[in-house]
Amino acid sequence: MKHSMKSIPLAKPEINQDDIDAVTQVLQSSHLSRGPKVDQFEQAFSQAVDSSYACAVSSGTAGLIIALQALGVKAGDEVITPSFTVPATVNSIVAIGAIPVMVDIESETYGIDPNVLLQAITSKTKAIIIVHVFGKSAKAKIIIDIAKQHQLKVIEDACEAVGNRYENQALGTLADIGVFAFYPNKQITTGEGGMLVTDNPDLLHKFQLLRNHGRSMNGDLYDQVGFGWNFRLSDINAALGLSQLARIEKIKAQRQKIEKQYQNYLDQNNEITCPKFSSCENGSAWFVYVVKIKEYNRDEVFNAMNQSGIQCGRYFAPVHLQPFYRQKYPNLNLNNTEKIAAQCLALPFFADLKAENIEYICDKLHKYTK
Ligand SMILES: Cc1ncc(COP(=O)(O)O)c(C=O)c1O
Repeated sequence: MKHSMKSIPLAKPEINQDDIDAVTQVLQSSHLSRGPKVDQFEQAFSQAVDSSYACAVSSGTAGLIIALQALGVKAGDEVITPSFTVPATVNSIVAIGAIPVMVDIESETYGIDPNVLLQAITSKTKAIIIVHVFGKSAKAKIIIDIAKQHQLKVIEDACEAVGNRYENQALGTLADIGVFAFYPNKQITTGEGGMLVTDNPDLLHKFQLLRNHGRSMNGDLYDQVGFGWNFRLSDINAALGLSQLARIEKIKAQRQKIEKQYQNYLDQNNEITCPKFSSCENGSAWFVYVVKIKEYNRDEVFNAMNQSGIQCGRYFAPVHLQPFYRQKYPNLNLNNTEKIAAQCLALPFFADLKAENIEYICDKLHKYTK
């Protein structure tokens, strides 16, 4: 008998009946946008991460653009960012005419290397974007200290880090502004969506103007008091986010269990380095499960896994090596970024990934790394 090939996706949202009911309820109301669900989602989110204020937006990218503008970053200013991230982090800087200064990462957290940061700061530097890669905390405290010494603003790109903490403080709440994202591959989803958090009421006010055409929340609907976009989140999306957020601890526990299962299978394989979840404080909220494979066979393994029906990712592809940025920065070499990126392989990772599928994935990985 011929066995049908397995088909295991890299990521999958976890949607239950509560989510469906929550969205249906909004659809049956007359408030599809600018209704009560956005406020409720913001309140619940700020409570969950213990931040004073939250402002829901249409995507993580929208959140990053708003964050930069709210901090006063202008055309021609330099913003320091890693290249080991998604294009959105760097694109958000370009979107407002500022100049991305991409720096190398360190090997422990895959975040900005604090040792190279100092050399990248110039008189034009205005801000730093810290990325918590794969949901794991970057060396944020050290970077924030350096930023303070140079009067620089700091944004945490916590788009992959919802639900994770550093020394008992939620990632995204360590710096001036934190930005989260809720695309369906994330720990919790709103379909598309994002969230800005801050403890500064002036920044909150700026977020609200920037997200809604520069119109004040308190004034007349048609009074435009500043510049702004339409970066609003709809109530449909917010209702889904609210319902998902209510069970984030359960989702985290499921992801943690999957990590441990992976680790048990993969630890015996010398060709593979597992991510160290023990260094993720208060348990895992990892966004993806990325192992390191020796450079010489990563692409072969990637292709073989995909051909076996196991969707894997070459995650991240460094931004400075993408054709669009390569032509702008032809001589930029970020050695550690390039070395680590060439070894990374993202394995399927989502809350209801079945144990038998994890075993199947690991068996294939053992086979292809021999
Ligand atoms: C690190 C990081 N930054 C920014 C974003 C952008 O978020 P969005 O896709 O919601 O615009 C993502 C999403 O994948 C991300 O992983």
